[in-house]
Formats: sequence, C-alpha cells, structure tokens
Amino acid sequence: MKVYIVKDYHEMSKKAASIIAVQAAMDPDSVLGLATGSTPVGAYEYLRKWSEEGTLDFSGIRTVNLDEYKGIAKESDQSYYHFMRENLFDHINVKEENTYIPDGEKEDIDAVCRDYEALIRKLGGVDLQLLGIGRNGHIGFNEPSETFPGECHCVDLAESTIEANKRFFESAEDVPRQAYTMGIGTIMNAKKILLLASGEDKAEAMYQTMCGPITPRVPASVLRLHRDVTIIADEAAMAKAGTR
Ligand code: GLP
Repeated sequence: MKVYIVKDYHEMSKKAASIIAVQAAMDPDSVLGLATGSTPVGAYEYLRKWSEEGTLDFSGIRTVNLDEYKGIAKESDQSYYHFMRENLFDHINVKEENTYIPDGEKEDIDAVCRDYEALIRKLGGVDLQLLGIGRNGHIGFNEPSETFPGECHCVDLAESTIEANKRFFESAEDVPRQAYTMGIGTIMNAKKILLLASGEDKAEAMYQTMCGPITPRVPASVLRLHRDVTIIADEAAMAKAGTR
C-alpha cells in the first residue's frame, strides 16, 4: 500500500488526476472504475482541463461506475448518471457507449446486479478503480455489515449515509433508501485501486481503515489485503491515522 499525505483537497485532486492520466496514457483502452461524491470532483476538473488542452485522450477508455441509487431517474439531478455527465463525461472525448453505470431505473435487482457483474467481466476487469470513502468507512455503497459482500448487489443505505448525502437532495426524505453497488469482491478484483480522502470528517474512517482490524464493520479496511493500493489523503483526513 502506497500512502501519500498531501496538504489539502487541491493537492489530493491534482495527484489523483495525474495517476488517472498516466493510466489513460499508458493503456489507452483502460477500464477505469469511477466514483461519485464530493471527493473526486477536483480530480475530474483536472482531467477535463487536460483533456480540453489536448493532453489527454479518452477515446478508447471504458468506464464503469461503482454505484447508483435505486429508484432514481437517470435524468434526475441527483442521479450518479447525471453527476458523471456533468462532472466528466460531457467534457472529455470518452465515447458515451463506453461509459457504464448500474441502471437505477430498473427494479429487477437480480438482473441489474448480474448484468453489471457480467459486463465488468466482459470488459476484462477494472484496470484502475477510483474510490472515495464514507464517514463510516464504506466504499462504493458497501455499508458496514457482518460480511464482505462479493459481487454487485443492492444495499439498504445506512442512516449515516443518508444523513451525509442529503446535502445533494432537498431533504433527507428525498434520499433513496437503496442503491446498487459493486461488491467488495468486485472492487478487490480491480488491478489497481486509488483511494482518496479529504477533510477531518474522514479522519476516523481513515484511522479505522489503516490502523484498525480488517473487518466488514469498516469495509475499506479490506483494501489492506489488495496488492496494489494507493491512498492519497490530505492532512486533515490523516489527522488520526497519519501520526501512528
Ligand atoms: C457516497 C458514494 C461513495 C463515496 C462516499 C463519500 O455514498 N457512494 O462512493 O465515496 O459517499 O462521499 P464524499 O466524497 O461526498 O464524501
């Protein structure tokens, strides 16, 4: 596990974007696993900028997103489908047909999850998986639980996640209660993983992830078992873990 402790969100974003850019340059057909939330927005801004300047080419890149709310319309402002278009896809030359996100409009849980897992396999697996981390240590939408879920599945969101994500909605009542997510097994199958964390509200999760027991109660802790993980975290996020 490589850990870079950087000064702030801005430095984290630039370094993360550089790693993604190198991946895209070294392997122009890469499958990038992408994440949503506030954490990767700055990195996406750099990728857009470098793409607009002509430094980066995404024409052969395929993308698979980690997760999507269940029961949300694609065109809704709060869908991850919409988020990805607004923050990245509409501004780079990735082909729309090469971008994949679990279909939150579909109700057939088994079909959505089976198809998404099969799709990732068909693409040859994820080359570089980008991750944020929830305040409770979740990755994707894999909430703390008794076991590590293997494949793509539908989860009941934890109250703390609904609380944390309500800032994107009118109110907490509007946050969907369920989501489709890659499983821990799906994430661990990625060839490389890049975990980003910024801000003091992630400090406890980062401490538990890096220094606590490897347990499904802290889903991100499993990343310590992966052979190629890079963490980029700012000083605030490392306030507890970084000093030990
Ligand atoms: C959401 C997403 C995660 C994300 C996490 C942290 O619940 N499903 O993929 O990493 O929240 O979000 P943020 O980056 O906004 O703190």
